Amino acid sequence: MSCRILVLISGSGTNLQALIDSLRARPTEGQIVAVVCNRPGALGIERARNANIPAVTLDHKDYPDRETYDQALMEQIDHFEPDLILLAGFMRILTEKFVSHYRGLLLNIHPSLLPKHKGLHTHQRVLDAGEGEHGSTVHFVTLELDGGPLIVRARIPVLAGDTPASLAARVQEQEHHLYPLAMHWFVQGRLRLIDDQACLDGSVIPPEGLKLEDFNNDLREDSYAS
Ligand code: GAR
Repeated sequence: MSCRILVLISGSGTNLQALIDSLRARPTEGQIVAVVCNRPGALGIERARNANIPAVTLDHKDYPDRETYDQALMEQIDHFEPDLILLAGFMRILTEKFVSHYRGLLLNIHPSLLPKHKGLHTHQRVLDAGEGEHGSTVHFVTLELDGGPLIVRARIPVLAGDTPASLAARVQEQEHHLYPLAMHWFVQGRLRLIDDQACLDGSVIPPEGLKLEDFNNDLREDSYAS
């Protein structure tokens, strides 16, 4: 049965675009049934519409508090009956009620090598700390912000002369492989959250997550199969 995927965004949606493009190669496996965005006019909304995906804007500024917004968001999401929800640059802290409601179905992509640099301004913080590498992580969402079980990480070297913008660009290039890979694992039923642990093909993923470079063969457009 085809997996119903819903994507939450706040901005330009380049990760959304990568997910759309990778599903084009295998439309029977899963489909993005809706995109929900909390910022009116975000470029990602246009990307969804160009791909004939229903796009809903739910502006958080129209709601008095986080609880009321997340309640409205849940109602909107549940209307589409998704099997998987992907946070793709959705820049909101989620309430406990929201996270618990979608436990095991909610993935996030975060621009750092988690558990390092949770939260915002990750590229600047890597430069400030003088670190030699950086990257991105896909993880299950749990109640701890950017703290759920790690699934897979992509690394990049930090180069002399790097700026937050140059790091962001190279991190995003990796993200566009990383997130489709994790999504395909989930839609194929290979990736699950079991007893608070991320599992791939029934084996517990180590706490530091898997390495994108170990799955280069899986990244060919026609080959997300096991
Ligand atoms: C991505 O780099 C993603 O990792 C980051 O926002 C960017 C969204 O880009 N997410 C976070 O910072 C979440 N804490 P996009 O809109 O072009 O996909």
